[in-house]
Amino acid sequence: MFSKWVFCGFVYFLLGFLNLVEFCSGGITSSYVRNADLSLDMPLDSDVFRVPPGYNAPQQVHITQGDHGGRGLIISWITPDEPGSNTVVYWAEDSKLKGSANGVVLTYKYFNYTSGYIHHCKIKNLKFDTKYYYEVGIGNTTRQFWFITPPKVGPDAPYTFGLIGDLGQTYDSNRTLTHYESNPAKGQTVLFVGDLSYADDYPFHDNARWDTWSRFIERNAAHQPWIWTAGNHELDFDPEIGETKPFKPYTSRFFVPYRASESTSPLWYSIKRAAAYVIVLSSYSAYGKSTPQYKWLAMELPKVNRTETPWLIVLMHSPWYNSYVHHYMEGESMRVVYESWFVEYKVDVVFAGHVHAYERSERISNIAYNIVNGLCTPRSDHSAPVYITIGDGGNLEGLATEMTEPQPPYSAYREASFGHGIFDIKNRTHAYFSWHRNQDGFAVEADSLWFHNRYWTSPERTFLAASQ
Ligand SMILES: [Fe+2]
Repeated sequence: MFSKWVFCGFVYFLLGFLNLVEFCSGGITSSYVRNADLSLDMPLDSDVFRVPPGYNAPQQVHITQGDHGGRGLIISWITPDEPGSNTVVYWAEDSKLKGSANGVVLTYKYFNYTSGYIHHCKIKNLKFDTKYYYEVGIGNTTRQFWFITPPKVGPDAPYTFGLIGDLGQTYDSNRTLTHYESNPAKGQTVLFVGDLSYADDYPFHDNARWDTWSRFIERNAAHQPWIWTAGNHELDFDPEIGETKPFKPYTSRFFVPYRASESTSPLWYSIKRAAAYVIVLSSYSAYGKSTPQYKWLAMELPKVNRTETPWLIVLMHSPWYNSYVHHYMEGESMRVVYESWFVEYKVDVVFAGHVHAYERSERISNIAYNIVNGLCTPRSDHSAPVYITIGDGGNLEGLATEMTEPQPPYSAYREASFGHGIFDIKNRTHAYFSWHRNQDGFAVEADSLWFHNRYWTSPERTFLAASQ
């Protein structure tokens, strides 16, 4: 025992000297016990689902980034009765000059459901770091909102992202969103890791539950961008009722700026925002060699300029490292295809959902295996990302409480509770991640980790800087 701690102490001293975080012993399974009863979806007449007053009033207003660098915004909303106006009027807080932009309008049918008129309008060339107001609708049904643009892309532009996944529309979902909104860390943009409304858990995928969900999140998503990732609950694939086009409701309702990153599909794309480069992948689209997603990612990773955007973040739905029983190894085939790239390009962090719980990994990789060498155990790897599962938004399917035992060494912390995360980028070298359990006070961190940027604090770079 003594020699183990002496050895660990020596290793920590050595790694601390190199500004590294590594693991020397097993992780933590939280002792926190919460009620694992299923939470029900909020009833249709809940105040969070309220329809705004007035004939054909715009509802379900939400925004997302509209270009690659953060000067564009996509504003989306639905008018229930007729197309109405497709114009957004907007102005900077410090300006009387009003701009306007026109968008597109579409509808879709899903089994016996017909959507309202879905509007998507892109506004461009916004000033960085500026508060804007915007209006949608006509006459006395005009609705006004505001948003704040991000700072100019740059290595030391601080920015605070929120992390939410697998949200749904239960009382717990509402607690998660309220907790996020009340967090003194003040998230500026939500990175959403998939599984939005859970409408597909209703008979015939009752798409009215897509509408209620979008009304529920409007209070936040109309003011700050939500960066979308598709999960399995976005597939809405059901041949028995004649619905064979995957992702139809999701891609109709949530536009993303995929063309700006030369993607050919809204299911995988990238954005730059402040000091972060965010790559969104699709766990439910083909990702093997020669597929469109594979070819795009192969071209995309070398494009990331870490002197401009030091923080490389990947979002996907199905986690690669997951020590819960539920969905165990579902992300494995995608991990086999892409993990070596994540290590080569020093991805800082991978956020995933799908498992309805929280888990954070050590920095590990498992890329040495070649069928005959038997090397298939995850090992400590300074160049590897931290993997964080944050599918704990609180949907109607409940918590994933069963865990594989003993806790694998790669798992640093795990807990079956609902909550959200904050990834707070301070500068090019440091970011602070915290996880917030819904049952705690708004400022309480149930788990946290300082991130040392993989590019700017890599041992090669540290050595080069020291020798110059
Ligand atoms: Fe999922």
